[in-house]
Amino acid sequence: MGKWFPRWYDALMEPLERRGIRNIRIRLLQKAWGNVLEIGSGTGLNFPYYEQVEQVTAIDPEPLMVKQSMQRAEQAHVPIRVRRAEAEALPFADNLFDTAVGTLVLCTVPDPNKALAEIRRVCKPGAPVLFFEHVRLEHPLLGRLQDGLTPVWKRLCDGCHLNRNTLEQIQRAGFKTTVVEPHYKGIFLVIEAVNEKDIGKQ
Ligand SMILES: C[S@@+](CC[C@H](N)C(=O)[O-])C[C@H]1O[C@@H](n2cnc3c(N)ncnc32)[C@H](O)[C@@H]1O
Repeated sequence: MGKWFPRWYDALMEPLERRGIRNIRIRLLQKAWGNVLEIGSGTGLNFPYYEQVEQVTAIDPEPLMVKQSMQRAEQAHVPIRVRRAEAEALPFADNLFDTAVGTLVLCTVPDPNKALAEIRRVCKPGAPVLFFEHVRLEHPLLGRLQDGLTPVWKRLCDGCHLNRNTLEQIQRAGFKTTVVEPHYKGIFLVIEAVNEKDIGKQ
């Protein structure tokens, strides 16, 4: 990955954060509880908003992102441990976490289906899974525009795809969606789901 993206990530996000994304993060993270897993935590933009949870284990494979997130982890209201790892191969036991969180990350993870299978494995049955993601639009022209822009966008923005059907991927992975809330004309979705699984049949 180019080093410019992690270095400039916070500055690029700041105008969007101010225009509403920060409030979306705050509302979403209020629903986290217990022992929390956050995938692709980046520079730790979510960390200040964890309040009523026991602890957070955050993972991200990019060393510079992890390094930049450390200060936010130290200043958080709850214990936050950050580890370098990929969502497709989570270094955790089965059924460990009470909540999973992923914001603006399934667009970038190289194999989102594998990552979702891993989240299912490490989360307890019934655990809430809280996502905030940008997705491919259903509008025929705009969807195709996103398809067309993705190859260049991916190279500029560290592997980020503009055109993933993330809601469908989450549902196909076996999560039961409970809330799907569109933002910014449906480009962004808050997706809340439940890890429906039978502990005997994983
Ligand atoms: C757009 S940033 C989002 C960061 C943060 N979640 C946020 O809301 O600001 C995408 C993050 O996904 C991370 N990422 C890339 N590949 C990943 C993988 N295989 N597993 C987990 N995270 C990954 C990147 O390093 C980056 O920090």
